[in-house]
Amino acid sequence: MSDIKKIKDEYLNKLKEDLDFNGVNQIKTDLFGKNGIISNEFKKLASIGVDERKKVALELNEIKNELQNVISKKNKDIDIREINLKLQNEKVDITLPERSFHQGKIHPVSQVIDEIASIFSEIGFNIEEGPDVESEYNNFTALNTPDNHPARDMHDTFYLDNNKEFLLRTHTSPVQVRTMLKDKPPFKIIAPGRTYRSDSDQTHTPMFHQVEGLHIDKDVNMGHLKGCLNYFIKEFFEVDKIKMRFRPSHFPFTEPSAEVDIGYEIKDGKIIIGEGDKWLEILGCGMVHPNVLKNVKVDPSKYQGYAFGMGIDRLGMLKYGINDLRAFFETDYRWLNHFGFDPLDVPSSYRGLSR
Ligand code: DAH
Repeated sequence: MSDIKKIKDEYLNKLKEDLDFNGVNQIKTDLFGKNGIISNEFKKLASIGVDERKKVALELNEIKNELQNVISKKNKDIDIREINLKLQNEKVDITLPERSFHQGKIHPVSQVIDEIASIFSEIGFNIEEGPDVESEYNNFTALNTPDNHPARDMHDTFYLDNNKEFLLRTHTSPVQVRTMLKDKPPFKIIAPGRTYRSDSDQTHTPMFHQVEGLHIDKDVNMGHLKGCLNYFIKEFFEVDKIKMRFRPSHFPFTEPSAEVDIGYEIKDGKIIIGEGDKWLEILGCGMVHPNVLKNVKVDPSKYQGYAFGMGIDRLGMLKYGINDLRAFFETDYRWLNHFGFDPLDVPSSYRGLSR
């Protein structure tokens, strides 16, 4: 038997042994590596006569193919063996009792914020945010609120320093200022968030939530404001018709200013929106005052628009029949289980805001 055949038999025998991937790899390198046995035999071909070369080359190729086939089969066998071993070791015992888990609930305030954001997003509003700690300038001065305005009183506002330079924002309106200072018109945004006032009873908590709206462009008028609010209220309360009235009012940062009431009645202890002859105030609004636009470097002779601000907690109480605002913030798990919403049930106008 020629040397090369002996080598072949020797390696075929080795490959029958119980090997792992490393063992097979070693054999592969021994045979076909740069200085491998078979590789070297191929190199030797150059130095033998042409007739002889053909024969030897043929034999060599056959041996090479045979060895390579056995090697790749061996690798496959090891692969299967390892997978089976893994499956055996990682067996799942489906008879074990399940682990207990608690599913949390989405707080009604978060749910209502998602609903509001979804409704306004669909009519082209972007969502903006501002910090809870605000400068006196953004909260009052830039919003055309004079020094002697009652909202600036120590009893109404939580100031953070004696100089009254910083405070907990009393409304979301300063986000109007922040938005207009950082970008160029047009603006079409809503800004939901926490707000603070020194106030506490059944319908007031020191911390509560508002959502601000702002739409500034070249020819935005009060008709757009009415249309927008009408659309929002219908979508939010999921009713086809509503009764809405604008009452003249005063806010330093709008001119003219109005408060908006919606009509309702109580039937079997439940609030029905859009029926009856009772009125409920739900928001303040108006056309943004030219002084505010000047303060944020927007030219009031070219741009104008409306703004509004409403209480999120209040909207949630109305929609979901919750009658004590304080319960919102008492973190009572039983309350949250009752009034909360299932996670991942993200509200949208298409899928139904509330279920
Ligand atoms: N910031 C006002 C408040 O908290 C609400 C408000 C009224 C906001 C009129 C506005 C507006 O943007 O135009 O009482």
